[in-house]
Amino acid sequence: MLAGIGRGVGRVYDGAVAELSLPLTTERLTLRRHVETDLDELHRLHAHPDVARYMLWEPWPRGYAIERLGRRLQQSAPANDDDALDLAVLRTADDTYVGEVHLHVVSRQRGCAEVGFAFHPEHHGNGYAREAATAMLGLAFDTLGFRRVIGRCDADNAASAGLMERLGMRREAHLIENEQVKGAWRSEYDYAILAREWAERPV
Ligand SMILES: CC(C)(COP(=O)(O)OP(=O)(O)OC[C@H]1O[C@@H](n2cnc3c(N)ncnc32)[C@H](O)[C@@H]1OP(=O)(O)O)[C@@H](O)C(=O)NCCC(=O)NCCS
Repeated sequence: MLAGIGRGVGRVYDGAVAELSLPLTTERLTLRRHVETDLDELHRLHAHPDVARYMLWEPWPRGYAIERLGRRLQQSAPANDDDALDLAVLRTADDTYVGEVHLHVVSRQRGCAEVGFAFHPEHHGNGYAREAATAMLGLAFDTLGFRRVIGRCDADNAASAGLMERLGMRREAHLIENEQVKGAWRSEYDYAILAREWAERPV
């Protein structure tokens, strides 16, 4: 069921995530909810120093991966502020876990969500992140009815900034030394795309 969130600002999905048509499939990938047996791969992904480098956190210890997988298993509807949906991304041909894509509700009232992505370095440079993020943006706009999706990255994270630009997102801000991360003041790029821009993007 889709519920209105305010005059002229679109709509946000208001049901259980189980009602979403998951998994999502793309040319090469399957995006599904996490399951208990993803623990080793989720941990391997986020324990990698290159994956954690520009994140707000250090590489995950095993115990933290267990806690974070537990939260993923609890995820229901990305309907209210701060609700999240983290989909495991598998290469369909051999069922290999290659990474995950994230969406969370920034403001239901404003119809705004944030997208994020983490792929294991073994699988960078194949276009998997772009393919999976495209599917997640499609879910955000076409199924969930968000009107604006944002993405944020460390200003030194060229791979993430490049991905958001390839997705058609617009760099709207360069925040200089706005956040202290792992003991250092870091700068941030803020990206965004509107539903109408997504609909009109060149394919
Ligand atoms: C950010 C991140 C997801 C980007 O991953 P990526 O693999 O570089 O991104 P893409 O899926 O768009 O792949 C792009 C590359 O694949 C290449 N490619 C190869 N085959 C391709 C195909 N069939 N289709 C599209 N691109 C393809 C592109 O040419 C491009 O190469 P280039 O970077 O040399 O120009 C990845 O660097 C990552 O997980 N980083 C660690 C976590 C992180 O920092 N996340 C972001 C936090 S804000």
